[in-house]
Amino acid sequence: MANDTNKFQAIISHCKEYGFIFPSSEIYDGLQAVYDYGQMGSELKKNIKDYWWKSMTQLEDNIVGIDAAIFMHPTTWKASGHVDNFNDPMIDNKDSKKRYRVDHLIEGYVDQLMEEENILLEKSGKEYKETGPYAGISEEEANKIFHDRFAQAGGFEIREKWNSILKSMDALLAKDDFAGLKTLIEENKIKCAISGTCNWTDIRQFNLMFSTEFGSTVSSDDEDNKVYLRPETAQGIFVNFLNVQKTGRMKIPFGIAQIGKAFRNEIVARQFVFRMREFEQMEMQFFIRPGTQKEWYEKWKATRLEWHKSLGMPAEKYRFHDHVKLAHYADAACDIEFEFPIGFKELEGIHSRTDFDLKQHQEYSKKKMQYFDNDVDPATGKPYGNYIPYVIETSIGLDRMFLAVISQAYEEQDLSTADKQDSRVVLKFPAKLAPIKLAILPLTKKDGLPEIAEQIMKDCKPHFRCFYEEKDSIGKRYRRMDALGTPFCVTVDHQTKEDNTVTIRHRDSMEQERVPIEKLKEIVLNAIS
Ligand code: GAP
Repeated sequence: MANDTNKFQAIISHCKEYGFIFPSSEIYDGLQAVYDYGQMGSELKKNIKDYWWKSMTQLEDNIVGIDAAIFMHPTTWKASGHVDNFNDPMIDNKDSKKRYRVDHLIEGYVDQLMEEENILLEKSGKEYKETGPYAGISEEEANKIFHDRFAQAGGFEIREKWNSILKSMDALLAKDDFAGLKTLIEENKIKCAISGTCNWTDIRQFNLMFSTEFGSTVSSDDEDNKVYLRPETAQGIFVNFLNVQKTGRMKIPFGIAQIGKAFRNEIVARQFVFRMREFEQMEMQFFIRPGTQKEWYEKWKATRLEWHKSLGMPAEKYRFHDHVKLAHYADAACDIEFEFPIGFKELEGIHSRTDFDLKQHQEYSKKKMQYFDNDVDPATGKPYGNYIPYVIETSIGLDRMFLAVISQAYEEQDLSTADKQDSRVVLKFPAKLAPIKLAILPLTKKDGLPEIAEQIMKDCKPHFRCFYEEKDSIGKRYRRMDALGTPFCVTVDHQTKEDNTVTIRHRDSMEQERVPIEKLKEIVLNAIS
């Protein structure tokens, strides 16, 4: 697992410096695990949202979108199981008083072991290169040297250790064996990052939902008036299942998509926008005939992975992770993990939710949640009739997708030549996601060049986001646009006045070409369509 803390820190600083993400209420020293998106970040986030929304609701024939309220009737959360089951096992360090989610504490330790293994691999590999093929010995012998070096340094033991810890953790979590988990932490001498001690409390469960009250006269102890900030957007879809099905005359299989805020009182929330207390989800519930869930589960796994790849994200940065401990509502579930600079982590979940949610809402609301299927069942020759549909859910965190996109795009490049030191930070966003598509830069502030540039701006801005800038040298302006991830810059110069052509500069290759002004719109639209 690559764990590039320096790169992660550099991305966080870059996000702040260039207006992508700020700590929330920063003038009051911020609010833990809450962030604000700035002028660039909100554009990027919106472009990701639009791309998801369009692929779900416009390109799929049988999926429609809704926008449900954040507040829902409190019984929703009893029915969904969140009041009783939306808990995480937590452990407190008695010295620092810091509370940890048990799986995150153990995984953090596993990350450290993986890091140690990576260092040994790198070291043994370097020695292999120096003493191996280059010293004129056979590849087989060189491999043996590499293997022996790694073994001597204890590499295999470290690998075995983290593998075994992960296996034990999964098995203990699956059984809710809290005493066993505590023993695992103690036996491996897993320490608190703050106090550095292993002085742990017993493991207890904590509910992750935020609550507040409706009305002004009720006391905060009044359970009846308690409302929750939704911890997932999915329930807004389930309670509207029949509204949408009937008014939209939807026929199974069909889906309902939604993008919206969700809130969780995360205990370990210190990985920038990866784990926040207020975040956004893009969820889709796909309603299907019971018995067809395996087939649809596989279909949605493949479709969602393709969606990520369609953005030009590299396939090797993704992997599936099957859940060992299934959530209370699922009969199969997996994560699509992405290799962030902090390692492979969950980006999206695909869950086969059975008929759990609709059945629960039927029971708690006493309203039928059934669908009448008049297609003929070939086995009986009769219509399938009434049933509660099964559901496949795809659920992706918008903020995590933002982090995946920016981590993939971020590059520090050394552009030094023999006679000049130079470097740049460039965000190689897919053109369709870039906050600004085209920067329009007159070479000088005089000689009629700004007027031509302003005309280009006027022609292009109804079609895509443009940015106009006259200040500073052209080199500095290019660097600034690279740091914002702008795929195209056009420079208006004196030749423009003669032949109506401009220089267009491509962000990634830094190549420049001369094109007629009237071609500009087409070039950018082709790249972002
Ligand atoms: N409706 C199912 C559901 O909510 P989940 O795995 O708990 O499933 C789905 O969450 C996705 O939401 C995750 O894959 C992740 O991308 C995102 N997510 C969950 N908790 C988050 C948090 N605290 N901060 C940011 N994103 C989060």
